[in-house]
Amino acid sequence: MTLKDKIITSKLPKHVAVIMDGNGRWAKERGYERIFGHQNGVKAVKNTVEAAAELGIGYLTLFAFSKENWCRPRSEIDALMDLMASTINSETETLIKNNIRLIIIGDLNSLPDKIVSKLREVTEATKNNTGLKLVIALSYSARWEITEAAGKIAEDYKTGKIKEVDEKLFCKYLSTAEIPDPELLIRTSGEYRLSNFLLWQIAYAELFFTKTLWPDFSKEDLYQAIINFQNRERRFGKTSEQTD
Ligand code: FPP
Repeated sequence: MTLKDKIITSKLPKHVAVIMDGNGRWAKERGYERIFGHQNGVKAVKNTVEAAAELGIGYLTLFAFSKENWCRPRSEIDALMDLMASTINSETETLIKNNIRLIIIGDLNSLPDKIVSKLREVTEATKNNTGLKLVIALSYSARWEITEAAGKIAEDYKTGKIKEVDEKLFCKYLSTAEIPDPELLIRTSGEYRLSNFLLWQIAYAELFFTKTLWPDFSKEDLYQAIINFQNRERRFGKTSEQTD
């Protein structure tokens, strides 16, 4: 029995979110510049997207670039932006052919224009695709997103557009308004942090940490995380007996 066969297809997480970490260390271990790690990380992105689509997972969110990542050396930022632009360019056909919809979350205003126009083009070209929804978090941070939402809510309250604020309404103001909460969050590279990622949305997500560095993350690693998820008891604040 392969690892994949052990996955119960009727119990798949609807949404898997991934903090792809460890590219820099992976490159350093091999005596290369950090960007070599990011370049090799693209292969892991492709494998993960392919595996998620094959399994029939609804949503896959990848944390590709945080707001805090803007503090990295300019050369690394530029190389990462080029890598992301060229990957999205070269993968557009594959997304379309495989019925994958691309969704971008994050502060697009802070990204270079050439990337934004490409992203708009691909999100538009794939908007009617009904298979996997691939969400890329770019120039994203959860505190930024929550603060933005709070600001817009305050404005709409002031103009009388809204009368009351509750959790359901708050969700509608987040960049993930149309996206269900992640049920499984994976972080690679042996770091046990959330790094300002989807803090509102992961309130009840199962967390899975692996020591594998992102460029080495394979389909098997994703299967392992899903099997682990499927063996957990999710109680949502209730007792074990209540969730039986
Ligand atoms: C974290 O590793 C990784 C990133 C900040 C970038 C991830 C980007 C890619 C995999 C490129 C392609 C992505 C897409 C979606 C097309 P790190 O640099 O923090 O590693 P370290 O912790 O070992 O230094």
